[in-house]
Amino acid sequence: MPAPFSFRNVQKVTTHVLLEMKLKEVKIAMLTAYDYSFARILEDTGIDVILVGDSASNVMAGHTSTLPITLNEMIYHASSVVRAVKRALVVVDLPFGTYQGNSKEALSSAVRIMKESGADAVKLEGGKEVVESIDRILTAGIPVMGHLGLTPQSIHKFGTYVVRATTEDEAAKLLKDAKLLDNAGCFGIVLEKIPAKLGGQVAKEVKIPVIGIGAGPEVDGQVLVLHDMLGITQEFSPRFLRRYHNLSEEVKGAINTYINDVKNLDFPNEREQY
Ligand code: KIV
Repeated sequence: MPAPFSFRNVQKVTTHVLLEMKLKEVKIAMLTAYDYSFARILEDTGIDVILVGDSASNVMAGHTSTLPITLNEMIYHASSVVRAVKRALVVVDLPFGTYQGNSKEALSSAVRIMKESGADAVKLEGGKEVVESIDRILTAGIPVMGHLGLTPQSIHKFGTYVVRATTEDEAAKLLKDAKLLDNAGCFGIVLEKIPAKLGGQVAKEVKIPVIGIGAGPEVDGQVLVLHDMLGITQEFSPRFLRRYHNLSEEVKGAINTYINDVKNLDFPNEREQY
């Protein structure tokens, strides 16, 4: 008898698979990755979506915001990830300044990401303000994911990382923007740091999958920054972040053991030399 269908058995996660998952109420698991080695580990786990997020600016390059990372740097990270991945859908953030206010530039930035990294889709932040850019990218056949709520590329406009869309007006604008992205043809939306009730409402009212990060449980999937959930980064602790590991402590333990072994002439031993 053939094995019952499971999304875990699909050979390649596509935007259509994600839509099917939403329709069948199977939750979507997404994590970030920025390099080949971690992407290989993620791929081995059967994760559905890998996001090459512009959070690379923080966790890989040590900047205090996502603004400084460049298109070339994003392409470098994305192509490293793509080399490790066969099954997961790889989505790449368009970095700040490469798509806002100029749809021609948005298209050429998205084309560069797709051509030079081999990724499956791009993601960008914003609603109505960026819909012209989204339209243009979509006309080239490039799948686009939206990102609403807390949009880190606009941090200087808002001045704070507090929960977004807590007033009625802001919630109404977010819902309108989500419907706009849905109607424009985006294949999904990330919702960041908004009230759980609103997250659930958006997921109900749009046809496309909604992936939350601090948007409650009633969305179609969840995303976290890999380095945060593994406990590699320590300083960032928002309420929505569940740490699944304390990797920085484990790594420090291993490195301290190595240092002691070197200093005590315990490494290399007889079997570890020629
Ligand atoms: O850049 C990123 O990691 C993101 C996630 C927070 C969704 O956009």
